Order: sequence, then structure tokens, then C-alpha cells
Amino acid sequence: MPVTLSVPATAAAPALLLRPWRTGDANALLDARVDQLMLRQLNTSLTDEETARQWLAAQRESWETGTRFSFAIMVAVYEAAEADAGRPVGHLAINAGNDPTGSSAEVGYWIAARSRGRGFVPRALAAATNWAFGPECPLPLTTLELRHSVGNHASCRVAEKCGYQLRTLLPAQPPVFPTGGHLHVRDHLPAAVLALR
Ligand SMILES: CC(C)(COP(=O)(O)OP(=O)(O)OC[C@H]1O[C@@H](n2cnc3c(N)ncnc32)[C@H](O)[C@@H]1OP(=O)(O)O)[C@@H](O)C(=O)NCCC(=O)NCCS
Repeated sequence: MPVTLSVPATAAAPALLLRPWRTGDANALLDARVDQLMLRQLNTSLTDEETARQWLAAQRESWETGTRFSFAIMVAVYEAAEADAGRPVGHLAINAGNDPTGSSAEVGYWIAARSRGRGFVPRALAAATNWAFGPECPLPLTTLELRHSVGNHASCRVAEKCGYQLRTLLPAQPPVFPTGGHLHVRDHLPAAVLALR
């Protein structure tokens, strides 16, 4: 049940669309991912067409499992003044694959270097968070976790802007997580639980 989410324009930024990745997105994906910061901050490296195709296939299959929801972040096609209108510029995933109860998931994201600093990811994450905690999401999610390395100030700002509270400091786990990190959490209590308080 792939899902598309719309993020309305603001006075300073264009409307965004979050839609599932497609097979034809390989060039846009490679274009966005050839970036030193992403090589440092992300665990997966995408530098050629074959790995891009495999990654796109994995995103498609993950929707079929019903435990991982992955979106291409796009500038809406009608934003004619935007050079990247209609083209994926970023990625956002909600992964509940590690929790058999389906009540908690981890969010992850990145955006192409030329689109950074415009609030695209916070707006995309806010829309995806609302969807994940809403009635359209197939999982009963009540907790979303966000991890980033300790020096990733930009990612920490995304967490803060979207109401993901800093819960704890994470120890280093080399080689995947050599510097230690932050665990941010956003909880959602169902209305029935809130009514009992
Ligand atoms: C982290 C990331 C997703 C932020 O997305 P974004 O859409 O640029 O987010 P924002 O526009 O809200 O900017 C967040 C912070 O980035 C920094 N920033 C601002 N302009 C920037 C630019 N041109 N380039 C890089 N970082 C910039 C600022 O610290 C900003 O915080 P502020 O708004 O309080 O000034 C993006 O930097 C990225 O893709 N980084 C590489 C991959 C990555 O680290 N993913 C997360 C792994 S946990």
C-alpha cells in the first residue's frame, strides 16, 4: 500500500511531495548521493548504477513487508521556479523492522547538498511523523526514534525542529558508529490513553 504525502508550500519554501521511490529514479538518486557529507554520515554508499538499482529495489520491497516505509522527497512538479521541480532531492524512511510489535520505528533521512538549509527535511519529517502516528499508517506506532552521530549538528536541529526530544547519549560503536551519538525520541499517546490521564 504505497503512500504519497503532500507538504504545503510556506512563504519561503516550495511545496514538497513524499512518494515511494521508483525504478526510474536511479539518476536522480546518484546525483544526490555523490556527496562527501553523506559518505561520512550514512552507512550505505551509492556511487554506481548497479548499487542504485539494488537500493531502489530494496525500497520498493520494503513497502511490501509493511514494516518499512520509504519516501523520495520531491519539490512539487508545479513549483516551476525551482530547478529541481518534479525530481527527487532527498529521502526519508520509517523503519519498524526491528520491533515485532510494530509500536516503535526509527526514522532516517538525507537531502541533496544543493537543497540543504531550506527546511525541506524538517517539513518532510513533520508530515511523515503525523502520518506514522495517524490512522492511515498500517502499524500501531507510538514511538519514533531518531539517531545521529554526535557531530551531526544539522541532523540534531532536524530532530529539535520536529519535536524529537533528546533521550540519551549513545556510546561509540566502531566501525559503524565511531563517535557516539544522540538518541532522540518522539512519543505519541493515543487519545484513549490521554483521556485516562
Ligand atoms: C541533516 C540534513 C538531513 C538536514 O536537512 P535540511 O533540509 O538541510 O535541514 P534544515 O534546512 O532544517 O537545516 C538544518 C541545519 O543544517 C545546517 N545548515 C543550514 N544551511 C546549510 C547548508 N547549506 N548546508 C548544510 N547544512 C546547513 C544548519 O545548522 C541548520 O540548522 P538551523 O536551521 O538551525 O540553522 C542534511 O544536512 C543532510 O542530508 N545531511 C547529510 C546526511 C545526514 O546527515 N543525514 C542524517 C543522518 S542521522
